[in-house]
Amino acid sequence: MTLSNKKPFIAGNWKMFKTIPEALELVKEILLAVEETSSSEIVVIPPYTALSRIQDLIRDSAIKLGAQNIFWEEEGAFTGEIAPTMLKDAGCDYVVIGHSERRQYFGETNATVNKKIQSALKHKILPIMCIGESLEERETGKTIEKVKKQINEGLEGINPEEVEKIIIAYEPLWAIGTGLTASPEQAQEIHSYIRSKLTEKYGNKTGSCAIILYGGSVKPANAFSLLKEKDINGALIGGAALKSESFIEIAKEAIKAYEEK
Ligand code: PGA
Repeated sequence: MTLSNKKPFIAGNWKMFKTIPEALELVKEILLAVEETSSSEIVVIPPYTALSRIQDLIRDSAIKLGAQNIFWEEEGAFTGEIAPTMLKDAGCDYVVIGHSERRQYFGETNATVNKKIQSALKHKILPIMCIGESLEERETGKTIEKVKKQINEGLEGINPEEVEKIIIAYEPLWAIGTGLTASPEQAQEIHSYIRSKLTEKYGNKTGSCAIILYGGSVKPANAFSLLKEKDINGALIGGAALKSESFIEIAKEAIKAYEEK
C-alpha cells in the first residue's frame, strides 16, 4: 500500500472503549457515511478483541483497519502480547505505535517504538508513530528538542523508502483527552518542523509526501481550522471517534479544509 497526503487521513483511536456489539454498531454507522467521506482516508482503530469482527464488515469498503499496539517478536512465550502476523491476520493495514498513553503507563520508550516500527514495516503494516511534548516541556521551551529526539530515536536505522510508509502523529500530551487543543498556529509550527526534519534526514520527496497527523481533542468544531494548515494532513481522534456523528463530521470538515488549501 502506498501512502499519499493528497487527501486527509482521519483515524479514530477507540482506546479501551467498546465491547464487540458496540464496536460493530459504531462501524456500521460509519459505513453508512462512506460515500460522503470518500475524499478522505478513514481508519478505525478498535481494541484487539473487535478487530476481526470489524474486518468482516469493512472488507469490501474503503474503510481501513488499524491496531492500537504491536509486539516486535514473530511469536513465542510473550503472554499478553500480539504479534505482527496476528494483526495482519485480523486485517490490519495500520498500527499505532508509541501512543503517549503507552509511553506513560506501559513504559514504552523511543527504543521500543523503533523496534515496533521495524517489525510492523517488515510485515507490511503501516505504522502511525505518535510523538509529542508534555505541558512542562512546552512551558520550558523544550518542545522542539523533545520532538526531534523522538523522531531521531524512533526512526533510527530506517531508510528513506521505509520512512515513506510511516505516518507521524503529533499529539501534544497536554491536549489529549483534556479538551485543550493546540491552536492551528501552534500545531502548524510543530508540523512544519517535523516535515523539515524529515526533509533534512531523508530528502525532499520523503518530506513533502509525509503524512503528519495532529491529535489532541480534535472535534468537529476545530477540525477545519487545524486541517487547513499547510502541514496538517489529518487527525488522530480519541474521544470524538467514539460517536459516529462526530467522527463523520470531522471527516467532512477535513475534506472541506483540504478543498480550500
Ligand atoms: P483525544 O485523544 O482526541 O481524546 O484527545 C487523541 C489521542 O489520544 O489520540
